[in-house]
Amino acid sequence: MQIEIQGTRLGYTVEGQGPPVVLIHGFPLNHRMWQPQVAALRDRFTVITPDLRGFGASGPPAEQTTMDTYADDVLRLLDALGYRRVILGGLSMGGYVVFRILARDAARVGALVLADTRAEPDSEEGRQRRYATIARIQAEGAEGFLSDFIGTLVGPTTKAQRPDVLAAVREIVGGPPPQSLAAALGAMATRPDSRPLLASVDSPAVVLVGEEDTLTPPSAAEAIAAGLRRSRMVTIPAAAHLANLEAPEQFNRALREFLTAEAGSAS
Ligand code: MLT
Repeated sequence: MQIEIQGTRLGYTVEGQGPPVVLIHGFPLNHRMWQPQVAALRDRFTVITPDLRGFGASGPPAEQTTMDTYADDVLRLLDALGYRRVILGGLSMGGYVVFRILARDAARVGALVLADTRAEPDSEEGRQRRYATIARIQAEGAEGFLSDFIGTLVGPTTKAQRPDVLAAVREIVGGPPPQSLAAALGAMATRPDSRPLLASVDSPAVVLVGEEDTLTPPSAAEAIAAGLRRSRMVTIPAAAHLANLEAPEQFNRALREFLTAEAGSAS
């Protein structure tokens, strides 16, 4: 589905019935990465999966895109759909957006799902890598970058035992426009430090991470879980950065257990 809000087109899906759970995708994916979770939750929850600007069915990125642009879009989408308080989740860049929503309006967040993400900002070296990637995409187009980058999202166990997952990720990513990738890379490079936010968060949280994740490793998840007041951490074996797609059964089991326990938090 698509909705036009203040001149911006946002793509999203709403499936199932029950307390609202919003799941925000990572880079450079779109809402379709949450298909296994939608299927696993829809009997008990209303699952809302937005497309961030520039991805999936959403319109082009803003001229100056920041994590706050994405966060505002998600909040305005929830306003338009009539959801005040939700269980809010994100994977990787989706987690960065979750932190900005918490910073802007923590009262909207009844419980938190943080998957394969980190609270700290980019290091100077990481930032320079993002800018070099933007330059590469501008010079040669997105294809080479996407092909290389997607290979880093899934782990060695997935590549060896379930090569179909990597193929599925490539299919889900598709071919996002170069300007969408550049906007997201710029937004990630300039995102603020979310660590100071953690201790003020009241909501219960589950922090999930693939044990083979090298982009946002288990140590980053441990730091988030340690910084939050009410958290549980779940390490998913034999999975890496896209733990929700690489090991959907284990991921869904942990997610469902947490959401079922915290379902009341969404209202
Ligand atoms: C993501 O998976 O959303 C990104 O790889 C995160 C990042 O590059 O920091």
